[in-house]
Amino acid sequence: MRIAEHALLTDADRRAIAYNDSLDQRRVYPHESAIAALDAFDQPLPGTGREAGQVLHTLDELGSPATVTSNGPRYFGFVIGATLPAAAAAERLVLAWDQCASSFDGSPIADKLEKVAARWVCEALGLPRESAVGFGTSATACTLACLSAARRALLARHGWDFDQDGLIGAPEIRVVISETAHITVRKALRVLGFGMRRLQLAAVDEYGRIDPARLPDLDDRTLLILQAGEVNTGEFDRFAELIPKARAAGAWVHVDGAFGLWARTSSSAGLAEGVELADSWTTDGHKWLNTPYDSAMAICRDSDALAAAMNSDAAYAMASRDSQKNLTLEFSRRARGVAIWAALAYLGRDGLRTMIDQHIRQAGHLADALRNGGYQVLNRVHLNQVLVRADSDEQTTAILKAAQDSGEVWFGATIWQGRPAFRLSVSSWRTTDADIEVLIALLLRLKNA
Ligand SMILES: Cc1ncc(COP(=O)(O)O)c(C=O)c1O
Repeated sequence: MRIAEHALLTDADRRAIAYNDSLDQRRVYPHESAIAALDAFDQPLPGTGREAGQVLHTLDELGSPATVTSNGPRYFGFVIGATLPAAAAAERLVLAWDQCASSFDGSPIADKLEKVAARWVCEALGLPRESAVGFGTSATACTLACLSAARRALLARHGWDFDQDGLIGAPEIRVVISETAHITVRKALRVLGFGMRRLQLAAVDEYGRIDPARLPDLDDRTLLILQAGEVNTGEFDRFAELIPKARAAGAWVHVDGAFGLWARTSSSAGLAEGVELADSWTTDGHKWLNTPYDSAMAICRDSDALAAAMNSDAAYAMASRDSQKNLTLEFSRRARGVAIWAALAYLGRDGLRTMIDQHIRQAGHLADALRNGGYQVLNRVHLNQVLVRADSDEQTTAILKAAQDSGEVWFGATIWQGRPAFRLSVSSWRTTDADIEVLIALLLRLKNA
């Protein structure tokens, strides 16, 4: 059994390394024949299990060709980065450890590294050092955790015990969100029972940022949700103006910074000036920090507020208030903060700045080249997002499809101000300037075809 396990893991490593070595040459979106071949997985649940080596063989032979090469250098779709080797290697070890990283009792090493990672994240992002950091699965889940903490705390300030009395008869908490808020923020609010019809939408300016002059009234029963990095344009709400006003009114301010918060680590940190004044923030590691998936952070200035909202202590499972099971939605959980620790330990402050600066510079160059090539660039390109349109809606859609079909690159469609556009996001540590030139050459070729 031991020998078989050793051989199996060696085989898995060999296959994973071969896959990684081929990233540069792979189609970015799989060929339709590889997708069609996935039908071979449609088998009945086996009565007698197969040999593990065969399971791995099937997975690699049928599965690998049908992957999207988002871990490669020419994936410009959603801001989802690749995986830094340091983070991928740490993840391999975490898998071997198989820790239940709920608390110190489940894993002293995970508890230690996630505490260090929490401190480093706050330091790197310039957020209050006293904040609690829960390492959750996604920005969606972490937003849900932060908004539960926010509602509970706002109600407590009005003498309402949310844990015991729930919502029936509770003072109403008003939610103000941007017209351009990410769909997952709306989802978190919907799941929490805020009711979509009751949300108050804050009007945005020409760039898609909340217009402070048209901000609805705020008071001490308001939850104001801002964003660092609008999903199409990469724009930032005007934190330095909005947050002091909101806090003076007694509102709770939450910031969705799924990818944009990482601008704080770069030479463009000024884009998010004042974001540190908020009450809570969510961000992802699996986007711009280039960690593997299931890597997000719920960050809350009032550490007790998050710890109380997420507490899951039981007689058989008591833990300190800053244990991860008391800061996230999960009870049993992977030590997902370890890959974040590894990425930050590897990059350091300088490496982080270099990586984020590079993507911002590459996006700027891409925008200039496309503009010069006759495309309309629809956003101010000061982050890593380039929002593009060709001469007509038909041409925009045709170019997008041709680029996706080419297998050379991949990026996605969007609708901006009622008309089709495509979004190019630069966020992989593997993307070189030469990869950007490949993208530019392809787009210019398609435009002139
Ligand atoms: C601005 C923004 N907020 C939230 C999310 C949701 O993040 P996640 O996919 O980690 O839940 C995303 C991206 O997917 C995003 O771009």
